[in-house]
Amino acid sequence: MSLRVVVAAPVSEVDCARVRALEPRVDLVVDHALLPPMRWPADFGGDPSWRRTPEQQRAYEAAIDSADALYGIPDADPSALARAVRANPRLRWVHTMAAGGGAQVKAAGLTADELDRVAFTTSAGVHGGPLAEFAVFGVFAGAKDLPRLNRQQRAREWSGRWTMRQVSELTVLVLGLGGIGRVVAEKLHALGAKVIGTSRREVDVAGVAEVVHPDRLREVASLVDAVVATLPGTSATEHLLDSWFFAALRPGATVVNVGRGSVIDETALIDALGSGQVGFAALDVFETEPLPADSPLWTHENVLVSPHTAALSAAEERRIAELVAANATRLLDGVDLLNRVDTVEFY
Ligand SMILES: NC(=O)c1ccc[n+]([C@@H]2O[C@H](COP(=O)([O-])OP(=O)(O)OC[C@H]3O[C@@H](n4cnc5c(N)ncnc54)[C@H](OP(=O)(O)O)[C@@H]3O)[C@@H](O)[C@H]2O)c1
Repeated sequence: MSLRVVVAAPVSEVDCARVRALEPRVDLVVDHALLPPMRWPADFGGDPSWRRTPEQQRAYEAAIDSADALYGIPDADPSALARAVRANPRLRWVHTMAAGGGAQVKAAGLTADELDRVAFTTSAGVHGGPLAEFAVFGVFAGAKDLPRLNRQQRAREWSGRWTMRQVSELTVLVLGLGGIGRVVAEKLHALGAKVIGTSRREVDVAGVAEVVHPDRLREVASLVDAVVATLPGTSATEHLLDSWFFAALRPGATVVNVGRGSVIDETALIDALGSGQVGFAALDVFETEPLPADSPLWTHENVLVSPHTAALSAAEERRIAELVAANATRLLDGVDLLNRVDTVEFY
């Protein structure tokens, strides 16, 4: 038995060869001339100014319509995904390159039957290492009051001595204990912080002193010095971190977001930064991306803005290729796929 996997997004020849070597039963079909050039590593959307000729577009869609499985959402475009699902009754599996690929599947507006016929998987977990480092960096920057150091240095001010907080003495709340949250918890625990994590399930996670249900967020907020959000953007997580939550935190708390911007009510966060209730925020994701030029977050002294880039690492494309190969093996062997999109909450 073989599985015809068509590459629908830019993937390097090295990674195509990697998938073929890891799972020789995969018939991997790729025509690099039909895919946009990447602007940076793991740029699976590719250069938006690049266009196919009508003839190339026909060839691209014909290949997609002959596939059992797609490596990437066609043109990272939900409407192209819907077209592919409807035009190709043999399609069984689509791997979305993003960890939060569920949102693109939701946007495709597929019917229940279509969602049943085609399995969707995401790259969740691939970004745990780099994002956990960014989270630790944010927690450190808050504890050591990086904004104050920057301000004093710019003013050439040799101030009196003042105490910095020790990460080893902090209690940190990690929201979400999935692929990212688990690594965040492990690293913060290794630094001596007390980690409280959230999950809707009964889980036991290395480095987490206590797992609480997200319903208890406000209750635990009063115990924490820093929060790291690693949650997906779904209707259930939208504005989970609101003015009530920020008001309940220990004064001067640090907020880090490496999940999705919609999880934080940015207006409430800006108010909490203004009052000093939140002392520092390190944000890789925002409610609107790119962050609008008039957002007060750009110029806020106590905010570190990262343009959704903290997850990117040289290993990302390789790790996604390994995941695709592992799931191809599972599909061929009739084993449940890793990282299936939850087609109720779409993450
Ligand atoms: N900054 C970036 O560039 C970047 C890169 C990769 C990923 N992300 C974002 O980060 C998200 C998480 O990535 P991951 O790899 O850690 O995914 P994951 O392994 O699927 O973990 C997601 C976690 O979120 C929790 N969760 C989901 N819905 C929830 C809800 N309604 N309330 C409370 N908790 C909820 C789940 O917890 P339980 O099921 O245990 O309750 C799960 O452990 C992705 O969906 C993506 O949006 C951002």
